[in-house]
Amino acid sequence: MAKLNVNGQVRDVDAEPDTPLLWVLREQLGLTGTKYGCGIAQCGACTVHIDGVATRTCVRPLASVSANQKVITIEGLSKDGSHPVQQAWAKLDVPQCGFCQSGMIMAVTALLKAKPNPSDAEINQSITNICRCGTYNRVRAAIKVVASGGKTASAGLAIQHANGSTT
Ligand code: FES
Ligand code: FES
Repeated sequence: MAKLNVNGQVRDVDAEPDTPLLWVLREQLGLTGTKYGCGIAQCGACTVHIDGVATRTCVRPLASVSANQKVITIEGLSKDGSHPVQQAWAKLDVPQCGFCQSGMIMAVTALLKAKPNPSDAEINQSITNICRCGTYNRVRAAIKVVASGGKTASAGLAIQHANGSTT
């Protein structure tokens, strides 16, 4: 039995020490927002924060995470989708199929915490998550919206929404 501090709660988990954290989160704790994509730390779908650091959990053994480290998953980012990154994602209709987006959002929130107004080069260096739907331009635009305090004009995009309105 091991203890994990996840989304502000200390939880007991029962898994082999080499079980990837991803499977403990999904299968033991029911936190299925964190996704499995590649299993080899390449795609970023499985990203959570460990003590604020964006971490790919498919290659992170349970035994390497101690009970006093704070794990935050997409479910713990906000109770109601009100985190500024989530709000920018909704405003700009960033997700397509959505599969990669939990990991993308967790990577972006960690970047913006460290660098509130990142340059394109810093975004390129930090956000290496793979999106099969090709949402990269919207992800970048949404990062700029958050960096500007929520001003959609800073996205540099004229986005037509499904209801006909534009942003
Ligand atoms: S599933 Fe972990 S990086 Fe792809
Ligand atoms: S939104 Fe479909 S994989 Fe990224």
